[in-house]
Amino acid sequence: MKIGILISGRGSNMTAIVEAVQSGLIPDSDVMVVISDKTSAEGLIKAKERGIETLVIIKKERAREEHDAEIISELKKRNVELICLAGYMRLLSPEFIRAFPNKIINIHPSLLPSFKGLEAQRQAINYGVKVSGCTVHFVDESLDNGAIILQKAVEVKDHDTPETLSARILEQEHALYVKAISKIVSNEIKITGRKVAYE
Ligand code: GRF
Repeated sequence: MKIGILISGRGSNMTAIVEAVQSGLIPDSDVMVVISDKTSAEGLIKAKERGIETLVIIKKERAREEHDAEIISELKKRNVELICLAGYMRLLSPEFIRAFPNKIINIHPSLLPSFKGLEAQRQAINYGVKVSGCTVHFVDESLDNGAIILQKAVEVKDHDTPETLSARILEQEHALYVKAISKIVSNEIKITGRKVAYE
């Protein structure tokens, strides 16, 4: 399967995906391109070091639809079949979602539907939950809302800060994202409405 990855920053999930593809842990796949909307994204260097083509497509003064159209066109040129958002900090336009139905996935650092949006780990600590975690889900037109593919629980400890909790969740994110992509690539997933089942 031809994979495209969208990032805005550090790119540790992107790196985990690229390494899993290159080692064969994610079978029969290629990462065709890593696209960032930020010139300064550290992940760009990590992708290049691993031999992956990178593109920077910044939004500039354009409307979201125009920015997305350029990204869609680059993904289509490379026949990308699965788009992984990995710390991509923009909400996709409905046109983007419709261009790739059930082909866009994201990872979020909480057990959705709790703590959508920014700083999910800080939200979890402030709320006082004892368990948080991470979720891989399909992307739809609402923020952090699409059908859930996999989740992993992570304990919240009494003395956790957003930083310590984020680090503990991040470790699980990498493994969970790779597992979810492997299942999609191996055609093990059946989607019925909001429900994802495994065959
Ligand atoms: C991760 O915590 C991910 O769950 C969230 O953004 C962060 C990206 O980190 N969507 P990285 O760029 O993959 O290191």
